[in-house]
Amino acid sequence: MLKKKDKYVVAVVGATGAVGNEMISVLEKRNFPVENLRLFASERSAGKTLDFNGKPVTVETLTDKVFDGIDIALFSAGGDRSKEFGPAAAKAGCVVVDNSSAWRMDPEVPLVVPEVNPDDLDWHKGIIANPNCSTIQMVVALKPVHDAAKIKRVVVTTFQSVSGTGKNAMDELLNQTTDVLNFKNPNPSVYPHQIAFNCLPHIDVFMDDGYTKEEIKMVKETTKIMGDDSIKVTATTVRVPVFRGHSESINIETEKKLTANDARAAFSAAPGVIVYDAPEKNIYPLQTVCADKDEVYVGRVREDDTIENGLNIWIAADNLRKGAALNAVQIAEELIKRA
Ligand SMILES: NC(=O)c1ccc[n+]([C@@H]2O[C@H](COP(=O)([O-])OP(=O)(O)OC[C@H]3O[C@@H](n4cnc5c(N)ncnc54)[C@H](OP(=O)(O)O)[C@@H]3O)[C@@H](O)[C@H]2O)c1
Repeated sequence: MLKKKDKYVVAVVGATGAVGNEMISVLEKRNFPVENLRLFASERSAGKTLDFNGKPVTVETLTDKVFDGIDIALFSAGGDRSKEFGPAAAKAGCVVVDNSSAWRMDPEVPLVVPEVNPDDLDWHKGIIANPNCSTIQMVVALKPVHDAAKIKRVVVTTFQSVSGTGKNAMDELLNQTTDVLNFKNPNPSVYPHQIAFNCLPHIDVFMDDGYTKEEIKMVKETTKIMGDDSIKVTATTVRVPVFRGHSESINIETEKKLTANDARAAFSAAPGVIVYDAPEKNIYPLQTVCADKDEVYVGRVREDDTIENGLNIWIAADNLRKGAALNAVQIAEELIKRA
C-alpha cells in the first residue's frame, strides 16, 4: 500500500522506450510529486541520460535488487520483464503500475482506467495493471453510454498507429516510407508485411479461433474494467501507417434508447472525453487532432437504425498518452489521493 508523503521516489522501468519516454514527459507536465526519479532499461542503455525537469537522469540496468526505497514503479519494458521483476518490486514495498499484458487478466490484479473503475484500486496487492491502449480509449467512451442506457453489445474496428508497437516500429514506418518514395523495395522486419502505404488486419499473434490476441484483449479487458460480464464485444484490430494515435469505429447496441443528441450530451458530461462532432464543418476525431492530447475525442455520433437501440461513433486518442503513460500516471495520482 502507498503511504502518504509529500513527494515520492518514482521509477520508470523501460524508460528509453516509446511509452517510458512519454511517462517521463507526463510526470513532468502534470507536476507529479517526485522526490527522486529513477530510470531503468536494459544493459544496452545503462549510463545514457534522459532529461527530467531540465536535469539529466542516468539510466540504470534493471535488476530485482533495485526496488528498495522506491514508492511507485511505472513498468513499460514488456511482459517478460513485468513477470520477472513486478513481484520483486511489490515485495520490496513498491506499488507497481504495469503497462504490459502480463497481469491484466489475473483476478488478483485490478485493471484500471481512472475515469471508469477507480474504486478497483482499493483491492490491489502491490501490482495494478494498465489496460491495452485500444481498450483504454474505448472504455472511456463506452462508460457514459453504459451508465445512461446499459450496453448490450459492441462491434469495434480499430485503426492503430505503429507507435503502439514501440520505437522500432516507428523507425520501420519512417524507413519504409522513404524507401517506397525512392523506388526501393521496403524491407519488413517488425511487421510481417510492408506497413508503409498499407493496412494490416493483424495485431499481436493469431489464436486458434482466427482472432488476434489484440482482439481478445479488447473483449476480455472491457468486461473486467466495466465490471459487467454481460457486455458482448467483438473486435477487428488493424495496424495503419500512422505514427501516433489510434482511431476506432464503434457500433454500440444498448438496452434503452439513446438518441444521437442524448449520446452527445452524455459524452460531453463524461470525464476525459471531448465531443468533436461537427461534420458539416469537417470536424471529427483524427489522429492528427488527438496526438499529444490527454482526452479521448468522440465524433460522427449517429443512430444505427438497423437495430432497435443502436449508435455508431468514431473515436481517436493518443495511444502513448491516454493509451499508456497518462493512464498509468493517473492511476498513481489516484493512489496518492487514497493513501
Ligand atoms: N506503445 C504503446 O502504445 C503501448 C501501449 C500500452 C502498453 N504498451 C506496453 O508497454 C511496454 C513497452 O512498450 P513500448 O512501446 O514503449 O516498447 P519499446 O519502445 O520497444 O521500449 C521497450 C523498453 O523496454 C526496455 N527493455 C527491453 N528489454 C529489457 C530488459 N531485458 N531489461 C530492462 N528493460 C528492457 C527497453 O530498453 P532498451 O532501450 O535498453 O532496449 C525500452 O526501454 C510493452 O509491454 C507494451 O506492450 C505499449
